[in-house]
Amino acid sequence: MVPAVPAASGFVVTAHGRVNLIGEHTDYNDGFVMPMAIEPAVRCTVRRRGDGLVRLRSAGHEGEAVVDPSRPLEPGRRDWARYPVGVLDGYAARWFAIPGRDVEIAADLPVGGGLSSSAALEVAVATAVETLSGRALDPVEKALLCQEAEHRFAGVPCGIMDQFAVTLARPGHALLLDCRSRAVTHVALADPSVAVAVIDSGVKHDLAAGEYARRRDECRRAADRLGVGSLRDVAASDWPARGAGLADDERKRVAHVVSENARVQSFAASVDCGDFVRAGRIMVESHWSLSRDYEVSCPEIDALVAAANRVPGVLGCRMTGGGFGGGAAALLRADTATAALERIVADYHTATGRVARGFVTAPCGGPEVAPAAPAG
Ligand code: GLA
Repeated sequence: MVPAVPAASGFVVTAHGRVNLIGEHTDYNDGFVMPMAIEPAVRCTVRRRGDGLVRLRSAGHEGEAVVDPSRPLEPGRRDWARYPVGVLDGYAARWFAIPGRDVEIAADLPVGGGLSSSAALEVAVATAVETLSGRALDPVEKALLCQEAEHRFAGVPCGIMDQFAVTLARPGHALLLDCRSRAVTHVALADPSVAVAVIDSGVKHDLAAGEYARRRDECRRAADRLGVGSLRDVAASDWPARGAGLADDERKRVAHVVSENARVQSFAASVDCGDFVRAGRIMVESHWSLSRDYEVSCPEIDALVAAANRVPGVLGCRMTGGGFGGGAAALLRADTATAALERIVADYHTATGRVARGFVTAPCGGPEVAPAAPAG
């Protein structure tokens, strides 16, 4: 799709965050994931400026970044701007002309809450570049460019889920993504009797980045030992028989990935046929597999999930995202969703002394472009 010509006053790109419903730590194992885009978003307002420079400012962060997109952009920044600068570099390398612009970034997506604020920022900037140049990459290429920016410029070896979810989301649907073939199936999630909620635990452990890279390595090593290209190739029917030669930790990691891939399929089928009770149960199983076998939860998130799963009207709740804090995703009965959320927040506070924040969200679409209001 060729983007529309921007208005003279400039334009605003909105890119939504995502919550992963199921399929955690499976994307970098070539497996299956099922995220959806959520209402909170990153917004980039793009306006002309006279020189050829791009100036990036973010309402949520100190400082600004001024870059000359006609010169090679090098990784090495340590601030928030490494994400957008990485994206500009990706487009420059693909011969997109990037004119000078002021880019103001604002977001109602919490940073570090496991809701892909970085992917939303990357995709918003990518959409801005495409809008300015009047040509667009195929959405799959666009998502991969954003992932590459995160790898090269932010040093985060993330899988493909977040950028795909933010780029390819469709309103009223979750995305079932095969991370090997990159095939996307949009699964309708618009039954008015159920709601999806996101609950931020208010906890973020520093372990997250290091442990993420460690899990990736453990999975790589386990796949090598099992003689498969990736853990995706270990069939649930072969497991656990094939795990005999693995170390304890490796066996647990593989057990999670193999069972989680099977759960994504069952979850998608349950949602598709409207069996939300079953879908909720599968989410709960996913959580305890992540906690016990993959060991990426933490006591606070376990307490949050345990509290949520005791509340009437909650069909299922699990941790979501990379882990070690962040948030949980819940499937709830819509008519009691607000009361259930209040109860979860109260019970979590009683259990941990911490304050969680939750909200109900509809499944949203991919990035949108609209004219900017005249500058004030
Ligand atoms: C982070 C990464 C994703 C994915 C999840 C775990 O959010 O960015 O690619 O690996 O962790 O499922």
